[in-house]
Amino acid sequence: MSGDTPDWDVRYAGRDLREAQPAQVLLDFAHLLPAQGRALDLACGLGANALFLAHRGLDTAAWDSSPTAIAALERAAVGLGLATEIRDVVADPPPAEAFDVIVVSRFLERALAPRLADALKPGGLLFYQTFGPAEVDPARGPRRPAFRLACGELPRLFPTLALCVYREEGALGDTTQGLRDEVYAVFRRLPGGLADPPLPA
Ligand SMILES: C[S@@+](CC[C@H](N)C(=O)[O-])C[C@H]1O[C@@H](n2cnc3c(N)ncnc32)[C@H](O)[C@@H]1O
Repeated sequence: MSGDTPDWDVRYAGRDLREAQPAQVLLDFAHLLPAQGRALDLACGLGANALFLAHRGLDTAAWDSSPTAIAALERAAVGLGLATEIRDVVADPPPAEAFDVIVVSRFLERALAPRLADALKPGGLLFYQTFGPAEVDPARGPRRPAFRLACGELPRLFPTLALCVYREEGALGDTTQGLRDEVYAVFRRLPGGLADPPLPA
């Protein structure tokens, strides 16, 4: 294991689910969520996004490769009907057209991006939030640049999806305010695919 590739099972040992918060993109844009449908919290960790989605009435799956994280989530989700799974999402990505909503937070596996786009049902939404290039708080996020998004990279990872929301503040202005260190976006899979519309003359 490299110094920048954490052993998540070790990190999660003794952690309390109450420490975990849903991703800011989900909190800020919860009003875009459908009233029903299938949702996936991919690389869910302690599963705060999954719990949020399930409480919103979505039929929610939560996948992570860490057995410790999934066990903690299962203890917290009794009675909620969450479909938890210990799953390596790189080796075993979600199937095509399976979900109305996918949430990914603080997980970046670039090769998986086309599979995530395909895993949305037509009309489905992808909420994505992870670390960006600006390290405003040096204590947060991975050190290795490859594990952080480059400037403007997030929309480029999903060229077949329509971009609904994009937030990347970097280190601009007063860095004691705003969302720093992380970047987020909401994408939609258009029912007819993403055609290039002609620009107005
Ligand atoms: C920084 S944590 C983020 C957890 C959660 N999404 C959050 O925002 O709190 C990264 C998570 O990715 C999971 N992970 C890493 N590689 C994975 C893989 N190949 N398949 C599934 N989960 C993976 C880790 O176990 C860990 O829970």
